[in-house]
Amino acid sequence: MRHFDSLFRLSAQDCLDILRLTANVKAQWKQGQRPRLLDGRMLTLVFEKPSLRTRVSFEAAITHLGGSSLFLTCAEAGLNGREAVADVARVLGSYSDWIVTRTFSHGLVDDFVRHAGCHVINGLSDETHPCQALSDLFTVEETLGSLSGKTLAYIGDGNNVARSLAIASALLGVNFVIAAPKGYELKPDYVASVKKHVPAAGLTQTDDPAAAVAHADIVYTDVWASMGQEAEQEKRKPIFTPYQVNAALMKRAPATARFMHCLPARRNMEVTDDVLDGPQSIAIPQAENRMHVAKGIMLWLAGKH
Ligand code: CP
Ligand code: NVA
Repeated sequence: MRHFDSLFRLSAQDCLDILRLTANVKAQWKQGQRPRLLDGRMLTLVFEKPSLRTRVSFEAAITHLGGSSLFLTCAEAGLNGREAVADVARVLGSYSDWIVTRTFSHGLVDDFVRHAGCHVINGLSDETHPCQALSDLFTVEETLGSLSGKTLAYIGDGNNVARSLAIASALLGVNFVIAAPKGYELKPDYVASVKKHVPAAGLTQTDDPAAAVAHADIVYTDVWASMGQEAEQEKRKPIFTPYQVNAALMKRAPATARFMHCLPARRNMEVTDDVLDGPQSIAIPQAENRMHVAKGIMLWLAGKH
């Protein structure tokens, strides 16, 4: 039983296979074709946190491919103490072909993987956001061509999105440079696991945003305080302000660099309006691609190569 809970479970070839499946279904979609490749299949989403893109992209994806979906909050699924996690996972797994989870604790994703008996997709946990990262590299390839040797500069918090971008970049031959304030970098044990999984990984950390973007093909940022960290927002603001992606920072990058953000954005905090809405930004096509990659992931898990 394959899962898409962690990119550490995937090889470079697995990622390339998902990207190829995605490119095929996206091309068909753009030609107005909606082949019912997943006819009669059932997707269940169990979410503990809010979501626009992840929820709707997966629900749209399965609808386009001929299947159905059901969205449950964790409370609706009975994960508020009504029932043991293992029982919820076993029961939902017996009805579903895939379960997408969005959780605080990554341990809850592991519980679903252990017990559900169907494919589990991690639609974000406090630790990682693998669907986002793989989708983002699909967008980079679509925009700039071959991924190999490209440089993605991530400016901001070493959070779930940064962690997943680091391993996805390593798997696909992209140099990943992260500029984070001291104390908010990727932890040394995480960097070590990326390098163990992909010995050739190009992964650099700095606390200097201008140095990070100097050779960037992509400048990427995310919120300074993630879901669940709202109480830290005020404390983080002065620490992260020097890491804002604004016109001055974009000028330090090559003129051909593109700007990406997983969204939702806190406008004029981690990114200014002029950058997010400017000519270098590909944040909206990036969000659209979440839907195409959701199709690629479900097809790949279903063995529809
Ligand atoms: N980027 C992303 O995962 O967005 P949502 O939180 O809206 O799903
Ligand atoms: N790091 C953000 C990503 C949202 C898609 C969060 O976890 O809130």
